[in-house]
This record gives sequence, structure tokens and C-alpha cells, in this order.
Amino acid sequence: MCPFEDFPTSPVLFDSATSAMARLSFTLLVAALASFGLATASDPDLLTDFIAPANVTGQVPGSFFKYSKMRPLTDDNVAFPKEFTATKASLAEFPALNGQSVSLAVLQYPAGTVNPPHTHPRSAELLFVTSGTLFVGFIDTTNKLYTETLQAGDMFIFPKGLVHFQYNTNQSGVAVAVSAFGSSNAGTISIPKTVFTAGIDETVLAKSFKASVDDIKKLEYGLKPKA
Ligand SMILES: *[C@@H]1O[C@H](CO)[C@@H](O)[C@H](O)[C@H]1NC(C)=O
Ligand SMILES: *[C@@H]1O[C@H](CO)[C@@H](O)[C@H](O)[C@H]1NC(C)=O
Repeated sequence: MCPFEDFPTSPVLFDSATSAMARLSFTLLVAALASFGLATASDPDLLTDFIAPANVTGQVPGSFFKYSKMRPLTDDNVAFPKEFTATKASLAEFPALNGQSVSLAVLQYPAGTVNPPHTHPRSAELLFVTSGTLFVGFIDTTNKLYTETLQAGDMFIFPKGLVHFQYNTNQSGVAVAVSAFGSSNAGTISIPKTVFTAGIDETVLAKSFKASVDDIKKLEYGLKPKA
């Protein structure tokens, strides 16, 4: 039985008021959530206050510690994305996080979209819903599923390394969440992408999933980036 039968299946609409609201609270929440990540620190301890960039001699400028590329997410003139979008501030995007055991992602879910099952090998994830509703879940190492429906203001912790997902069940409204990680480089392994697009031999996959090679090919085809 599908838990989402009650949700209307009207076409995707982007109400501008909704989008504006979705962006409104980012600044505050990003600031608040940055500190939560510190509680789940897991990067190796530094023997220095921070890791200065190799090309800087003398004092590191204050600007090294600032990251502004999330500004468009707070701008009402920037359209809400058409597909699920994770905008990260992790080691790759923000070098000052190196060794600081913390990173953030802002997650935008258009109506009816899913963040497919995935894991973060190096960190737990503390997700805070800032607008809309999300159906979320994770699976533990004994294959038990834990699910909840979250509304704006709710938090959910995905334990380190476990497979998890989020689904915006609302077919007409967007959802936004901010996630804190206890690593500057939590890493993401997408289950569909890893299993079906990395080039594992189709016979291995067919035997593993007790399916035909044709079925495997169909799944692989569906996951190919669209031109
Ligand atoms: C150091 O390198 C980074 C990344 O390549 C660059 O953004 C930055 O401007 C450089 N800083 C200096 C002082 O050259
Ligand atoms: C879905 O989103 C629309 C638009 O934001 C909102 O009016 C409606 O209450 C939401 N439905 C549910 C079930 O949350």
C-alpha cells in the first residue's frame, strides 16, 4: 500500500510566494546549523588553528573564511530549480573547511521529487526542513527501515554511512532543507548511480538482482544523463 495515495497529482506549479518563503529563512538557518555539525566531528584533529592555502604567505585574509556562493538561494529573482538540487559548501567548494569537521548542503526539492537512496561514508547528516514537507527514511545494517514525515521546523538525523532518502510528497509545492555534516568532506555514494552507471558487468548485476540482463540494461538506460 502506497503511503502517498492521498496526495493530489496535479501538474507541477511553482507558486512564487512559496518559493520566496522557501528562501526566506536560509540565512538564519545556515548560521544555526553550522554549529550543529561541530557536535558530530569526525575529521582528523588539526595541530594548527586552520589550514592556510599553499599560495598564501603571511596572514591569511579574512575573506578566506567566507563563502558566498549560496547567495542565489536567498534571491527571489533566481528561479527554483526544476529538479532536485543539492548545493554544497564542503571542502571542494570552500577550502577553509579543511580539517574543521563541518560542512553544509542546501537541498531544494521541486514538487514530487526525490533525493534517491544514497550514503555519506564519512559523516552523519542532520537535516533541518525549512519549508514544505518531506517523507524521509534510512535503513540500518540489519536491513530495518525507519521512516518519518517531516514538516518545516523538524529535524532528522541520518546515521553515518547508512542508506537514506528524502521525498517531497507534495505534488504542487516545493520543499527546502538544510543539512549539516560532521565532516568537511562527507562524500556521497548514490545507490542507483553506483550500482548501475559505474560499469559493473551486467551479468554480475543480473545475477545479483535475480533479474535478466535486459532488465539491467533498462535500468542502466534510465539512469543515463539525458542529452
Ligand atoms: C590562491 O589560490 C586560490 C585557488 O587557486 C585563489 O582563489 C586565490 O586567489 C589565491 N590566493 C592568492 C593570494 O594568490
Ligand atoms: C502542498 O503545497 C501547496 C503549495 O505550497 C500547499 O498549499 C499545500 O498545503 C501543500 N500540501 C500539503 C499536503 O502539505
